[in-house]
Amino acid sequence: MDPIAPMLEAVLQEVREDTSGAVADYIPQLAAAPPDRLAFAVVGPRGHVFSVGDDEVAFTIQSVSKPFVLALALERLGRDAVFARVGVEPSGEPFNAISLEAGTGRPANPMVNAGAIATSGLAAEGSAAERSSTLRDTLSRFAGRSLSIDEEVYLGESETGHRNRALAHLLRSHGIIDGDVTTVVETYFRQCSILVTVRDLSVMAATLAFGGVNPVTGERVVREAVARDVVSVMASCGMYDYSGEWMLRVGMPAKSGVSGDLMAIAPSQFGVATFSPRLDRHGNSVRGIRVLERLSEEFGMHVFEPHESIAEPGIRIERTDGGVIVHLGGELAFSGAARVVGVLRDLTGADSESDVLVDASALARAHPAALSVLRAQLETEGGRLHFTQ
Ligand code: DON
Repeated sequence: MDPIAPMLEAVLQEVREDTSGAVADYIPQLAAAPPDRLAFAVVGPRGHVFSVGDDEVAFTIQSVSKPFVLALALERLGRDAVFARVGVEPSGEPFNAISLEAGTGRPANPMVNAGAIATSGLAAEGSAAERSSTLRDTLSRFAGRSLSIDEEVYLGESETGHRNRALAHLLRSHGIIDGDVTTVVETYFRQCSILVTVRDLSVMAATLAFGGVNPVTGERVVREAVARDVVSVMASCGMYDYSGEWMLRVGMPAKSGVSGDLMAIAPSQFGVATFSPRLDRHGNSVRGIRVLERLSEEFGMHVFEPHESIAEPGIRIERTDGGVIVHLGGELAFSGAARVVGVLRDLTGADSESDVLVDASALARAHPAALSVLRAQLETEGGRLHFTQ
């Protein structure tokens, strides 16, 4: 039996007794959701999904869809086009605030409803059905399986979503969204109604955590730079007017949803997701926040936790008849390159005339700036230093 599942189960049991908060009541089908459901899933670099609780229960993704739709918009149009229409600043306001930038009408960021509607309008083209299909296909690639739409929740939100329609018309009046307002806002309602489980969400989170590559399927869904941009916006804006306290207490880029879902990322380590319908006054899952606080604290997932490894690449020195070989392993960041240069100076500064070979072939990852530093060092050694990657 794997050692991780019992650790996750213990965290779940600790928060189960907390029944504070209330289910969302402005979307009829969400108001009827069983409030006590509780689930939690984690996915690491090898793509194994560890999950506990009601981990097979499906729920609508709601606002947790927003980072993935932003990723699609950035993949299609690039930063300049997207961020000309929507900002990247935390609003400090509730997720459904009707507030746009004076003059330009730009929403504060893609995580609040106004910004998400704008982003949804950029992420796909065609009819509402065609746009919805494009978004559903993209979220399915992040999840690693074909996702479907809860038509009842969609109809419920389409019939009651007057505030979002008002936001969409305001955005249209400023030219933030183009074309038919109904097409854009119905597409947004449908993206929010995509059905997922906590297992799906954890894989989607892990795909962002691993630079756009789904660790279960191995597919590259979006470019690494796009994944980094999305995670950056989640870090500053993903929890709405709780985002500042969230980064202090939990320190994992995250996105919440009114169905009670919550997705968080430990970059290059884990994708995490929780599901518990009762929400706090910010519209974030009460138990979900408690689970992530415990996870961050107990499992060292806070993004600002010190990680020496990035400045300490693996270095092994092998002395042979033909000279010295310096084997590099792990990750070589710019900070680590300075350490390697120090080792090379010691080796080539010694009395021996033997050549030194730097073997970087086993490096898991090397930043271009780090390789430039090593190559510059080679040139100063007049041919005694060699490099293989
Ligand atoms: O547009 C809405 O209000 C919902 N479909 C999504 C809002 C949401 O999930 C806010 N996040 N906590």
